[in-house]
Amino acid sequence: MEFVRLLLVFLHLLGMGVLVGTFLVQLKSAEVSKGWLHGAGLQLVTGLALMSLAPLTDAEYNHVKLGIKLMVLVVIGGLAVGFTAKRTNPKWLTPTLGGLVVLNVGLAVFWT
Ligand code: HEM
Repeated sequence: MEFVRLLLVFLHLLGMGVLVGTFLVQLKSAEVSKGWLHGAGLQLVTGLALMSLAPLTDAEYNHVKLGIKLMVLVVIGGLAVGFTAKRTNPKWLTPTLGGLVVLNVGLAVFWT
């Protein structure tokens, strides 16, 4: 089971990489990138899988922290879906999405 947890952490970190990469691509692109949705989707699936498998992997997580990370991710996803549908990309969107990603990395690392 430890291997499954490590595999999910591996994919979770790659998902973070997708979001950071998307931020960099977005700086040069006028349209809202699909990368936000791909990265956020991967974080959602792997994060929830890590959380729900905790009894089997003997992991102990801070559920308040995970709940806040989930809310931040919902905001990222909501903004990405909303502005993709509207076909507009206001100036504040890219720094806001990037800032929310960094916020979740900070919560993951500094809040034990
Ligand atoms: C933008 C979204 C997210 C980012 C950037 C992110 C980032 C990270 C990072 C960097 C770690 C590694 C921390 C460390 O090992 O010290 C981590 C761990 C973790 N994240 Fe996330 N996360 C996100 C969303 C979520 C969500 C929505 C959930 C679940 C509700 C979640 C659940 C977890 C869990 C359970 C771990 C611990 C894995 C382990 O070490 O066993 N994450 N996250």
